Amino acid sequence: PETGTLSIVVLGASGDLAKKKTFPALFNLYRQGFLQPSEVHIFGYARTKISDDELRNRIRGYLIHGKGDSPEHPEAVSKFLQLIKYISGSYDTEEGFRLLDKEIYAHEVSRNSLEGTSRRLFYLALPPSVYPSVCKMIGTCCMNKSDLGGWTRIVVEKPFGKDLETAEKLSTQIGQLFEEQQIYRIDHYLGKELVQNLLVLRFANRFFLPLWNRDNIDNVQIVFREDFGTDGRGGYFDQYGIIRDIIQNHLLQVLCLVAMEKPISLKPEHIRDEKVKVLQSVLEIKDEEVVLGQYEGYTDDETVPDNSNTPTFATVVLRIHNERWEGVPFILKAGKALNSRKAEIRVQFKDVPGDIFKCKKQGRNEFVIRLQPLEAMYMKLTVKQPGLEMHTVQSELDLSYMQRYQGVVIPEACERLILDTIRGDQQHFVRRDELKAAWEIFTPLLHRIDRGELKPSPYKPGSRGPVEADELLEKAGYVQTHGY
Ligand code: BG6
Repeated sequence: PETGTLSIVVLGASGDLAKKKTFPALFNLYRQGFLQPSEVHIFGYARTKISDDELRNRIRGYLIHGKGDSPEHPEAVSKFLQLIKYISGSYDTEEGFRLLDKEIYAHEVSRNSLEGTSRRLFYLALPPSVYPSVCKMIGTCCMNKSDLGGWTRIVVEKPFGKDLETAEKLSTQIGQLFEEQQIYRIDHYLGKELVQNLLVLRFANRFFLPLWNRDNIDNVQIVFREDFGTDGRGGYFDQYGIIRDIIQNHLLQVLCLVAMEKPISLKPEHIRDEKVKVLQSVLEIKDEEVVLGQYEGYTDDETVPDNSNTPTFATVVLRIHNERWEGVPFILKAGKALNSRKAEIRVQFKDVPGDIFKCKKQGRNEFVIRLQPLEAMYMKLTVKQPGLEMHTVQSELDLSYMQRYQGVVIPEACERLILDTIRGDQQHFVRRDELKAAWEIFTPLLHRIDRGELKPSPYKPGSRGPVEADELLEKAGYVQTHGY
């Protein structure tokens, strides 16, 4: 591991994302010894004029209510907060960034960085509209100047643009200032335990190797449900909608890992090369394979226009045109204000040919990976019902993480991903060409929705979403297991 100073700058430090996700993730890393006080300093930067202590007090509540179970927790919170300094400045003028640079440099010198490298990590917890100016300011004022090595890296959050054109423009602007190796595009789904498990599952288990293809798999569902609405984020959400918010990024990334070929090694570039190939093999989405929904009451939010056409629910069938997957629908489904909160992958196998047990009605073999809540994997299979008669029944082989890995704390996605940025591992980050290919898939559909050519159907909050979605699922080949 590298030595020397590490300066972590959270831009947008007074905002919601920083408070709820970024600082708690940094705190958890600190608590586990990944951020050493002898090397690390954290800088908060934002426009709001507040003092160091005011920022610390804003953050404190989110740390205390975290995994605050151990007696030394309050002490750790106080020590961690002492590592944070706040600087206020604008996002498009040099003044604030020069001051920031001075502070970072002072920290580097005070920690004797001359004996080691100087590492600078900039986390943009900001709306993408200011990315170009902020990147320019960092590039002009705040790059690592140590002769002894080190680096400058930036972390950016989605949304990366609104469609292919805007995303490419943003990538070009940022690309003029930073090398691809310095840019970490976060998709927090890639930091989830069971998403990280996908490649292991697929490529380290003999079971799956011969089965994972069009000969055996009938359809794949990747589902995201939330049981709450836009919750005060209506203004942001209405500009984007569920496809840009969840499907184009989180669910599509999961699809890549489910569908990609085996990479030649675990090197980030090898993995990302394979992901890009899958994305480039996705065919144009057909209108008849899309169902949109909007929950009733969505436009009651004052920041959402009454006539909004923005979907809060969507089911979209993607078709991958390659040797492994031709003819297998990948059904991506996401919705807000539904009846449950869950994210899962359901791989449904074809019927057994020549079924002598006449057990088809009971359901098919299905392999389910539940990403959250209560991480689990289970395989639905047909067995003989115990007893004197020869009846069959659906049962499951079940790996529930809570039971199997009792006492093991599953890290937060953000925590893991920030650690990767410090270590310089880009495997779980989205590469520029990957982003481009992801936008290529959805941009024509999104434009049709933006123009009002496709309209969302209303659905009741707390329901399963529009009924048309279930019909589409069935048409795509999904067979519901009865009595399960
Ligand atoms: C975010 C979306 O990226 O993911 C939110 O912007 C959504 O709308 C959130 O609520 C869901 O994340 P998770 O980890 O709770 O599934």
